[in-house]
Amino acid sequence: AAAEKGGHDFFMLKEIEEQPASLADTLRGHLVDGRVVLDEQRLSDQELRDIDKVFVVACGTAYHAGLLAKYAIEHWCRIPVEVEVASEFRYRDPVLDRSTLVVAISQSGETADTLEAVRHAREQKARVLAICNTNGAQIPRESDAVLYTHAGPEVGVAATKTFTAQVIACYLVGLALAQTFGTKYADEVAREYAELESSADAVARVLEAVVEPTRALARDLAPSKAVLFLGRHVGFPVALEGALKLKELAYMHAEGFAAGELKHGPIALIEQDLPVVVVMPSPKGRAILHQKLLSNIREIQARGARTIVVAEEGDETVRPFAEHLIEVPAVSTLLQPLVASIPLQVFAAEVARARGYDVDKPRNLAKSVTVE
Ligand code: G6P
Repeated sequence: AAAEKGGHDFFMLKEIEEQPASLADTLRGHLVDGRVVLDEQRLSDQELRDIDKVFVVACGTAYHAGLLAKYAIEHWCRIPVEVEVASEFRYRDPVLDRSTLVVAISQSGETADTLEAVRHAREQKARVLAICNTNGAQIPRESDAVLYTHAGPEVGVAATKTFTAQVIACYLVGLALAQTFGTKYADEVAREYAELESSADAVARVLEAVVEPTRALARDLAPSKAVLFLGRHVGFPVALEGALKLKELAYMHAEGFAAGELKHGPIALIEQDLPVVVVMPSPKGRAILHQKLLSNIREIQARGARTIVVAEEGDETVRPFAEHLIEVPAVSTLLQPLVASIPLQVFAAEVARARGYDVDKPRNLAKSVTVE
């Protein structure tokens, strides 16, 4: 059994380490003669060009991948993207028509809420594109276009490698749409695609550098009652996902916040010794946001919180305010969530283990939720 788990005591730890491969496998073969191609495509070019609005629907971790899809698609395609948890989308009477694209993200492809959202969208004549890790599952079967993530089977109930694969798949969809709409030319798409390919190496470097120190940190913080996670821009979904992992695995109260909201409420929660994880943007790439987050860290540190900061390698400005600094390689903005998520996955798994829980099978949760 230890061999099956790649020498680890839990599948999840093996799956965390598989992420460089699952990223590379998900990208492989999707740039053909300068065009990004999906796995299945039953829409005409004209139908795709007519799309003027995108909804992304998903549940749980897949929803966090969807939040990142918004940054990529709006940035590359200049069309509005809304992201919603699938269980809310359907009952809201969303405005859908033939020029709406609904992107459904689901590892299993069987999640009832997401499937029903897809059915509702199709009844309203919207086009549906599925991002799925399971060949031939129900959601891709009922969609007009499909992009499969190639993360391989994931045994751990809490999604890890399928999350990062979903994120990279969302970016591929963004590039494919940009090409269709003509907002990106072939050479730009090829450059972006190469950039996405570099994510596998960046994630491999994170794994080498941060796993052991993050485990030690997790064991130290395992007795905490709660942990807060702060991020901005693409770091915000990372904060949400970091908190979700900790809830799922360690049964610890954890919340992710948009750092800009700190003064609108969450700062009231800050007290002596509360661990607060801050996901920093790049000091070069996002200088203004970086400054704002630095002042957030100062504020929470001044109130006695324990600051755990995920920051770009060589970001010296953050060091004085970080009780524990987790350095990740400098990558482009859209790849930051991939490198920053890795230590948070390791952190949640190790806190759970330190607390004596089954990392692969957290209580009350199912890998695939097929009831609404
Ligand atoms: C369950 C799992 C989560 C997963 C969510 C959505 O809640 O425990 O890890 O993110 O379902 O699953 P899906 O298969 O649709 O991605």
